[in-house]
Amino acid sequence: MARSLLSLALALPAVRAMNNGLARTPQMGWNTWNHFGCGINEDTILSAAQAVVSNNLTALGYEYILVDDCWQADARDASTGAPVADPSKFPNGIKDLADKVHDMGLKFGIYSSAGTSTCGGRFGSLGFEEIDAQTYASWGVDYLKYDNCYNEGRAGTPLISYERYNNMSRALNATGRPILYSMCNWGEDGPWNFAVDIANSWRISGDIYDNYDRYDSRCPCTDMLDCKLSGFHCAMTRIIDFAAPLLQKAGPGKWNDLDMLEIGNGGMTFDEYVTHFSMWALAKSPLILGNDVTSMDTDTLSIITNDAIIAVNQDPNGSPASQMWIHAVDGGGQLELWSGSLVNNQFVWAVMNTSPSNQTVNVSLLDIFTDQGAAFGSGTFTMYDLWQKDADGAWGAKVADVSGSMSVDVVTHGVRVFKAVPVSSSRRAAGEL
Ligand code: GLA
Repeated sequence: MARSLLSLALALPAVRAMNNGLARTPQMGWNTWNHFGCGINEDTILSAAQAVVSNNLTALGYEYILVDDCWQADARDASTGAPVADPSKFPNGIKDLADKVHDMGLKFGIYSSAGTSTCGGRFGSLGFEEIDAQTYASWGVDYLKYDNCYNEGRAGTPLISYERYNNMSRALNATGRPILYSMCNWGEDGPWNFAVDIANSWRISGDIYDNYDRYDSRCPCTDMLDCKLSGFHCAMTRIIDFAAPLLQKAGPGKWNDLDMLEIGNGGMTFDEYVTHFSMWALAKSPLILGNDVTSMDTDTLSIITNDAIIAVNQDPNGSPASQMWIHAVDGGGQLELWSGSLVNNQFVWAVMNTSPSNQTVNVSLLDIFTDQGAAFGSGTFTMYDLWQKDADGAWGAKVADVSGSMSVDVVTHGVRVFKAVPVSSSRRAAGEL
């Protein structure tokens, strides 16, 4: 008996996370909201799923096809209380849609709110958690995004929010179907503290806005640790600022969600979207495409298919990068150094330039390897540029063997992302040692 208890204890994951075995690396997929809003129907979802497959995005890890708000009918089923889909948008119902998505080798997700209504004014799940979770499971749902609108004031302390969101967490677990639970309470009450073992991910801020850094009073907070109104219209770099102190709370099965990607939606430049994708990857945010994947230009496709950046996001260590320094730039904006660990004694680091001019900065390896200590940081490392292709056309061209420091050019609103491998390991891998 004692022995079986011991083996049970040993079988439990080392980290506390929602015990559904999902999202051991951040989830990847596509969601309707950022591009289509409420203007969705069965064709929108099936065309997107087909485009994900035909663009080979599945092989890169994009696996969830997610239906956001406005799929619901005007009311629940009057006799059973079960959720019902809008029959004009989804004439064949959600189960049929999920089956078709599954037949394409993809997973299927849906949306509701921990409130009386969703943000788009459809029926919410507050008080209907069990019947909703059971219905989703019977439809073959693999993922639930769970919002925070119309919560009847059931927020304001971590415990109150926890209980409201835990009701759905329990209901999902009780179905016996593994359903990824993506909480969307916009950082209210600090989900990075209270949701780590009830959800697979939690949004940390108000909704993203397809803009690099424009201030907007509808995203009023400067610090999510002390935020009374998450709002919306949060520019991309504002979300990076919000995320920086929170990333320490994430790990396998429990991720900070910096919100869905805007790449391809047109509000940012190429370099800005490269920053968006890179920093979401380093932060270990879910990578959920939010553009029209049925019509993508080559720039968009080249960004979202960079498999070296995706590998950083999907690294099995699940260790988010940290902001190691911020240097103010004359004329506004700043340079930021980020670094983090990957598996097999490899590392990723990035320099981000939010200033309005191109910059050159000398980066000390001691700063990149602050966590590993001065002896380690005094070594020599092979650097690979994750936004440059090598001679074979693969992302991650070798730059140089570097010790001491490295000079880095970063264009305005751009980022440079490097992988660092201790020289002894890289020579061994190349058969030179
Ligand atoms: C909230 C969420 C968004 C989206 C909309 C749908 O604003 O934060 O991501 O789901 O609701 O109405």
